[in-house]
Amino acid sequence: MLIGLIIILLVVLVTAIIVGWSFFVLWRTGVPFVTMRRYENEFVLNSLDIKPGQTFLDLGCGDGRLLKMLADKYQINGTGYELNIWAYWRAKLKTWHYPNIRIYYGDYLKADWSSFDYIFTYAMPGMMTRIQGRLVKERIKNCTFATYAFRLPSIEPTHLHYRDIDKRRGGLYIYLL
Ligand SMILES: C[S@@+](CC[C@H](N)C(=O)[O-])C[C@H]1O[C@@H](n2cnc3c(N)ncnc32)[C@H](O)[C@@H]1O
Repeated sequence: MLIGLIIILLVVLVTAIIVGWSFFVLWRTGVPFVTMRRYENEFVLNSLDIKPGQTFLDLGCGDGRLLKMLADKYQINGTGYELNIWAYWRAKLKTWHYPNIRIYYGDYLKADWSSFDYIFTYAMPGMMTRIQGRLVKERIKNCTFATYAFRLPSIEPTHLHYRDIDKRRGGLYIYLL
């Protein structure tokens, strides 16, 4: 009886921490944890001209599924940053056996973006302004920046692919920096 009560309390506590933390991250960044579906990840993967062994930074990597798919297909050297504790641990667990994937818990706006072949994000318009600010301020060069669904506010993309070409849905904005 007592054991059962303790287990229920623990489950409630852990759930409250995960939900509370998710709201905190949403309040702090304005970006919710929304995962791309498999077909969206495949669309991104097939739209980028990635060569085996290239370095790939995923800003807000969620549960790490894109990095995992990229490592399976192109043996990329992947780095992901994530602030949502639930997503972070899922990403860690999903990729623990991939020596070429590193997942960090932390704010990607404070991370080093300087030495990647690809930088990818799926964020929100407000965050895109901050990301553009960093790309410009740090003069990130020799890198392909790609963003799903939301573009950089005032830099024209080099290429634009639509997941659904007829209905112009699911834009992938690609910038050759
Ligand atoms: C729209 S979700 C996309 C998740 C993942 N890329 C996917 O497609 O499954 C955006 C993610 O970015 C994370 N995020 C937002 N701002 C962040 C920041 N400044 N640093 C680290 N992660 C951040 C959120 O927690 C969220 O999980």
